[in-house]
This record gives sequence, C-alpha cells and structure tokens, in this order.
Amino acid sequence: MRMGILGISAFYHDSAAAILIDGELIAAGQEERFSRIKHDSGFPAHAIKYVLEEAGMEYNELTAVIFYEKPLLKFERLLETYHGFAPKGVVSFVSAIPLWIKEKLFMKKLLQKQLQQFGTAKIPLLFPEHHLSHAASAFYPSPFEEAAILTIDGVGEWATLTISYGSSGGIRVLKELHFPHSLGLLYSAFTYYLGFKVNSGEYKLMGLAPYGNPDSAQTKIFKEKILTELVDVREDGSILLNMNYFDFATRLTMTNNRKWEALFGIPRRKPESAISQEHMDLALAIQDVTESIVIALARTAQKITHSKNLVLAGGVALNCVANSKILNAGIFDHIWIQPAAGDAGGAVGAAFAAFHIRFKKKRTVRLLSDSMNYSYLGPQYSDKDILRAINKYEAGYDYFKNFDDLSLVVSKKMAEGNVIGWFQDRMEFGPRALGTEVSSGTPETRRYKKS
Ligand SMILES: [Fe+2]
Repeated sequence: MRMGILGISAFYHDSAAAILIDGELIAAGQEERFSRIKHDSGFPAHAIKYVLEEAGMEYNELTAVIFYEKPLLKFERLLETYHGFAPKGVVSFVSAIPLWIKEKLFMKKLLQKQLQQFGTAKIPLLFPEHHLSHAASAFYPSPFEEAAILTIDGVGEWATLTISYGSSGGIRVLKELHFPHSLGLLYSAFTYYLGFKVNSGEYKLMGLAPYGNPDSAQTKIFKEKILTELVDVREDGSILLNMNYFDFATRLTMTNNRKWEALFGIPRRKPESAISQEHMDLALAIQDVTESIVIALARTAQKITHSKNLVLAGGVALNCVANSKILNAGIFDHIWIQPAAGDAGGAVGAAFAAFHIRFKKKRTVRLLSDSMNYSYLGPQYSDKDILRAINKYEAGYDYFKNFDDLSLVVSKKMAEGNVIGWFQDRMEFGPRALGTEVSSGTPETRRYKKS
C-alpha cells in the first residue's frame, strides 16, 4: 500500500499544500496560484485538491496530514508577549484575541472540519514545530547525506532562528533564538519603515539596497545607528533587539515611528511615494547589517556541526544577496537552499518531517540533483488547455511545430527590446519563479541557484 502524507501550511500567509508518496515529493502548490489572491492565507483547499489529484490518491487513503506548526504553542507566545508588555499591548491584544479564539486556538477542529470536504476518514493530524518544518524543508530534499541547517524567519511559535544538524539520525536542534529577538522581524521593520508591505515587500528592500551609496557618510551613520541603537549583534550571530524601537510585540505596527524618525532623521516613507537617496542608503545599511549577521550565523553553524554542507530555509533565506555572501565567504563547500524558503515551503518540510521523523522512514539522497524536481511541482497545461484559454479570451497566436523556429522569433523579439513571457511545463513552487539552474561542475561542486 502506498504511503501518502499531506503537508499543509495556512492561516498566517502563503498557504500551501504538498504531498509525499512513499517519501517522494510528487506535488506542491501555493494557494495564491489557484485563488489568484496574492499571499492567500486561507485554508488551501484548491492546492490540496490539486496535489491529491496529481498524486492519484484519495484523501481517505492518506496515512497522515501534517500542519506546519503548533498552534497552541504559538498562542502561548502571543499570550505571554501581551502579558510581558502589558498594558502597552492592550490595543493589539484586544484586536488579536477574538481572531485567535475563533480560529487559531481551535486550529485542530478547524482543520478537521475543512478537511472533511475531501473525505470522511479519520486521518491522523500531526503538528511539528514551525522551525522544524523549515529545517526539514531545507535538509530532506537537499542532495546531502548530512548538513548544517540554518533556519531564519520572522517568528514561528517562539523560535526566530535555529541552527540544527541533519543526518541519517534525524534533525538535532543545537541552537535557538527566541521572539522578540528576530532578524526576520528586524528586516521587516525596515521594509515597513521604507514604505513596503511586510511579509511581501522584503524583496523590494533587498532590490533597493544596491542603489544606496556604500561610501557615503549617511550610509555609514545609518549602519552605526542600527548597530548601536536597534540591535546588539553578538559574535556568534545571535541578536538582541532594543524593544523600545519596535512595536510589533505590542501593537499592530512594526516600528515606533516617532523614535525611528528621531534616530534616522527621516520620516517613514509613505507607500508608493517617491524614493530618495536617503531611502536607498537606509536600505543598503540594513542589508549590510543583515548580511553580516547571516554570515556570522553560518560560521557558528559550521563551528558547531563541523559539516561541509549548509542548507537554508525560513523567510530570510529568500534574501538571495545574503545567501551569495555566505557562498562567497567559503565557509561551507556546498550550499543548498529550499526554493520555497518562506512559510509555503513549511508544507513540504512538514510532510518530510512526518515521513522521516514521525514514521522513521529511511531517506534516499539524490546526490546528482535534489528531491524538489527542480521545484517543478505544480500543475501543467496541455496544448489543448492553452488553445481553450486563447479562444476564451479571443487572443491571437502563431503555432510553431518546430522549436528552433520559435526560438528564432523569440530571440529576434528580445533583440528588438521586447519583453517576453515564457510559459512551459509544470508551475514552480516558491516565490522566485524564474527557473532553477544547475551550475556546471562535478556532482561534488554543484551548487543550485534560482536565476
Ligand atoms: Fe516561517
């Protein structure tokens, strides 16, 4: 009998579903790709339906369903945080609690109820810790027999970053940093202050940083102020945030704008307003600080695991510029990064965690590639489907029987300065849907990157 495990991430942002059949990742999809609601955080009904269909498995045949975090532990963190910061947190407390009572506290019941639409069998429902899901998503699909695992994000239940060691013996957590001290939340605070959306616009902040002037006095002062006032960075890469400047633990905003304005001398940038040099310099300053913290963490991970391999996941691992700095620093011989490093990838990690940790099943390592199928894990469409869409929207088209003819036309259009969209094969899983490339070299020196 086939062993099917359904992984789910939902109810925060980037809901997704993934399915493993006998330990092989068959399909994964993010709900937003089906519902067309960006970062859809609802129950991923469309994604679950798709992965079950792709796997050819009925819901009632599943061995287990695994959610990507422990809701009760997360609730405990919220309660303790509000308690610890009371009465400052009263505004956020009052607005957040009814939602949590209704939805998060009764997550198990809510999930069971929602899952009934797929079948009535009582399938065991499992809840690993949030960072274990990230760690499993980084290690199990990687091409390494053993590796140091670094997970960095905003926050899960309590942990905001972990260093673990993955091997045939499972995943051993060696170090953890706890909320409210969080590199992800620090980066998100700057995302917010620079007028971008939290949990979404972080890539814009990363993209803005190279426009900053690395030699200007302003950038240097910004960096110094970040490191003396906002965050205390230890040699091992662990951090302490000065909570006088942050409102995410107590209110519904990220930063104390009055204090930030006094510190940096610029007001919070209004979303969609003009971007000036000082915004770019501030973006560069926090990107630089983030990179130095990530490198220090990578060094610590190497020191305590003695591994030559590093795998990464968690939202901060989507900062590909910081990742490239780890690579260039030569701390590890090989690096592999989960393409869906954010919370959507938690669905994949949770499923792997169930298979290898809960059910103690052996792992088959794909040394020459990985177990993500180059992240091509989503639906694909036949020529017939495409024709149907063309007819529906009355779009014009040319049909090329020969691939060379098509490439010739496309390259000519590109040379003329046109922008080309290319649609082919299965949909990718992960936010950087730009194709996965395998660099040249021997299997030992291969590195995988999103291009
Ligand atoms: Fe996360």
